[in-house]
Amino acid sequence: MLTIISVVFLFGSTRAAPAAGECPNILDAAGVSQMFAPMIAHSIHSLTLEDIRYFFEEDATVENGIPTVNMDLTSEKRVLLNAPLAGYDDDFSTMTMKTFDLVMRNMNRTWWGITNYNTLEKLTHAFHMAEVWDRTAEEYKLVKQLLDPESEICECITDVENNDVLNYLNLLAFKIKYPGITSGNKTLTDLYINYRAKRSAAYRFGVGYDLSWKRSGLVDFDGFDFNLSDIELLKDVAEKLVDEDGVITKHVDSAEHWQLWREMVKEGMDASGYYDLAVFLYCMLN
Ligand SMILES: *[C@@H]1O[C@H](CO)[C@@H](O)[C@H](O)[C@H]1NC(C)=O
Ligand SMILES: *[C@@H]1O[C@H](CO)[C@@H](O)[C@H](O)[C@H]1NC(C)=O
Ligand SMILES: *[C@@H]1O[C@H](CO)[C@@H](O)[C@H](O)[C@H]1NC(C)=O
Repeated sequence: MLTIISVVFLFGSTRAAPAAGECPNILDAAGVSQMFAPMIAHSIHSLTLEDIRYFFEEDATVENGIPTVNMDLTSEKRVLLNAPLAGYDDDFSTMTMKTFDLVMRNMNRTWWGITNYNTLEKLTHAFHMAEVWDRTAEEYKLVKQLLDPESEICECITDVENNDVLNYLNLLAFKIKYPGITSGNKTLTDLYINYRAKRSAAYRFGVGYDLSWKRSGLVDFDGFDFNLSDIELLKDVAEKLVDEDGVITKHVDSAEHWQLWREMVKEGMDASGYYDLAVFLYCMLN
C-alpha cells in the first residue's frame, strides 16, 4: 500500500544532520504523518526481538534500538530501550502457535503484559499486533529499497528522545499500568495516587486498559520528565494529560461483546500508519 507519492518523497532525501526544529517539515515532506509518534508507540509497545527477526530483519540483535513498554509492570523501568527476547517456544513451527503459547504460559502472571485483560483479550491483542506487523512487513520491503539510513529523514525518525516516541511510550505504559489514568475521572485516579503514595503496588480495581486509541490530537509533553518515578509523576499524568482514553467497559465474554472488539481491532491504524511504522523500523534497525 506504499503510495507512489511516498516513494518519490523517499527518493528526494539527502544526507545531512538536521536541527531538531527542522524535523517536522522534513518528516512531512517524506509523507510521514504528524501523528506518527503516538501511532508508532501503539504499534511497537509489545514488539519482541523474535517478532523483529520474523517480520523485518532476521539479523536483528539484542541491541536493536526499538523501544518498547516493559512487560514487567512491577518494574520502575517503564520503557525498555531495546525490544527484548520473548522466549517463544521453537518446538512450535507457526508464529500463530508460538504467540498463542506465550500468552497461555503467562496467563496467570500478575503485573505482567497488560493489566486486567482476560485471556481472550490478551490473545486478541497479541494476534492484532502480529497482523499490524505482517501488513507493515510489506511496506518495509519497499522502504528498504528506497530509503537511505543516513538520510535526514532517518536522523529525525531515530531521534526518539526529541520526536516524542519515548514520551508516548511512557504515556502508554502509564495507561497500561493504571487503566483510566488519563480519563479525568478523579475518583479513579485518586485511588491510584493514594495507593502508590503508600508505596504499595497492590492496587487492582478490575478496570482494564482500553485497546482502542482515540485520536484526540497530539499531546503536549512540555515539562514532563519521564525519568521520574511513577509515584512522582502520577498526579501530573492524571491532571495534565487528560484525553478520551477510558477503561474497557465490555470484556470479551460473548459473541455480542466480541462484535465491539472486532470493530475496534478492524479500525486499527490509518493506511498511513503502516507506512510510518515501516519508515520508523527501517531507520531504527539500519
Ligand atoms: C488463571 O487465569 C485464568 C484467566 O484469567 C483464571 O480464570 C484462573 O482463575 C487463574 N487461575 C489461577 C490458579 O490463578
Ligand atoms: C469513575 O471511577 C469510579 C471508580 O472506578 C467508578 O466507580 C465510576 O463509575 C467512574 N465514573 C465515571 C463517570 O465513569
Ligand atoms: C533521562 O535519562 C536519559 C538516560 O539517562 C537521558 O539521556 C535524558 O537526557 C534524561 N531526560 C531528561 C529530561 O532528563
